[in-house]
Amino acid sequence: MTIELSEHPLVQHHLTILRDIHTAASAFRQACSGMTQILVAEAARSLKVEALTVRTPLEETAGFRIAASVVFVPILRAGLGMLDDAMATIPDSSVGYIGLERDESTAVASCYYAKMPQLGSESQVFVLDPMLATGGSAVQSVDQLKQCGAQHISMICIIAAPEGIESLKTAHPEVRIIAGKIDRQLNAQKYILPGLGDFGDRLFNT
Ligand code: PRP
Ligand code: URA
Repeated sequence: MTIELSEHPLVQHHLTILRDIHTAASAFRQACSGMTQILVAEAARSLKVEALTVRTPLEETAGFRIAASVVFVPILRAGLGMLDDAMATIPDSSVGYIGLERDESTAVASCYYAKMPQLGSESQVFVLDPMLATGGSAVQSVDQLKQCGAQHISMICIIAAPEGIESLKTAHPEVRIIAGKIDRQLNAQKYILPGLGDFGDRLFNT
């Protein structure tokens, strides 16, 4: 399994805003947006391009375009905070949705919604979920995506816990993880430490 951590200074800047208990929902959304733009650009390093010629106002020159079928899959609800920036970064993309919610007492995620576009062996699927905690949501998402035919799957998350990385690695070792930060551990309630709290609640002000 490959884990790619962004070294970008803006990642550290946005992460600090996201962590801060005093950050209001408006600033939290902005920091989520800034962070997502960088992480999606990092994730997109693996995409194939094809050569073409383009005419500038002065002459023809060589250019490239993305030659991949990109699919973003936000995990509801928190992943929705990353979707607009992902689509803006790669406008020719498709979108699927998976709704998963952790039980508050067991932290086990269950699926309440799924809607997928056509997926094939060539699809480059990027799962958007800001928090990789126990890894239960990520493992279930990848299970579903594979059942739908996906073979190239990457997880884009803002914070990953070692426990979540380990469980995803055990279940789906070929999945690539692009993360802003690997945090220390989970607490007894399966929240990430130091983390940022409940991402969905802070994003949607609930
Ligand atoms: C959060 C988060 C992930 C999940 C990670 O969602 O957005 O989907 O927890 O935890 P895990 O790795 O232990 O599965 P949550 O279940 O709180 O739902 P929400 O996005 O609707 O708030
Ligand atoms: N989901 C969150 O939103 N935060 C955590 O710390 C763990 C799971």
